[in-house]
Amino acid sequence: MDDSTKVHDHFQKVSGAFDSIYSGEQRSFIYRMVDILFRRRILEGRRNAILEFASPVKDKDILDIGCGPGRYVVMLAKDEPSSILGLDMSDSMIELAKRLAAERGITDICKFEKGGFLKKEFDKKFDIIIAAGVADYTSDPKVFLSKIKDILNERAIISFPVKWTIFTPIRMLWLFKRKCPNYYYSNSDIKRLVKECGLKIKSSKKIGSFLVPGNYIVVCEN
Ligand SMILES: C[S@@+](CC[C@H](N)C(=O)[O-])C[C@H]1O[C@@H](n2cnc3c(N)ncnc32)[C@H](O)[C@@H]1O
Repeated sequence: MDDSTKVHDHFQKVSGAFDSIYSGEQRSFIYRMVDILFRRRILEGRRNAILEFASPVKDKDILDIGCGPGRYVVMLAKDEPSSILGLDMSDSMIELAKRLAAERGITDICKFEKGGFLKKEFDKKFDIIIAAGVADYTSDPKVFLSKIKDILNERAIISFPVKWTIFTPIRMLWLFKRKCPNYYYSNSDIKRLVKECGLKIKSSKKIGSFLVPGNYIVVCEN
């Protein structure tokens, strides 16, 4: 089984649980505690930083790679972009995203497609590209970043999981047990990769602490 099938299968299974970190819907006591202590703070910090870096989005064409349950898409839609495409390899994530967009009455601006980013052929470029929580599962980040560069007009905002924190080995083990490949980055790994792909870092921010597996949020331009 190749890496992308393993990532697909993992997110097919955990889509509801993943979205519940945002929605706070009922889960078992243990999961709720883990979410409150670690995951929710990181996810919300990441989302806030990315949305701030993405702004202003008015009249822009946006691509959200690995859009998951569509939480970013619905927030961006409020600021009147020209269009937003949410792309995700998992059908169950796309179903959640479509349902959320329908509930919020924004299906005219937001479109969702099921598919892997690396295999998808695009017939246009995007002003703003977001990839939150995707580099974590990408075995060849150079191919991933080069493809972003090819279809980028203005800026890409990409999260990379921080390589070493106290709880990183626990996250690795958790994903390993679920047969989901996962990858981590140091600040210098990111600088090197971005440069090798011909992109430039415009700004960046670190979310999390030495304890919790956090993210580097990096804004790149062509
Ligand atoms: C951790 S979730 C993040 C979802 C969303 N970006 C967020 O932060 O709320 C990662 C998502 O990326 C998707 N994904 C991972 N690699 C992908 C790829 N190469 N192409 C499309 N989707 C991908 C997974 O299916 C999953 O839904």
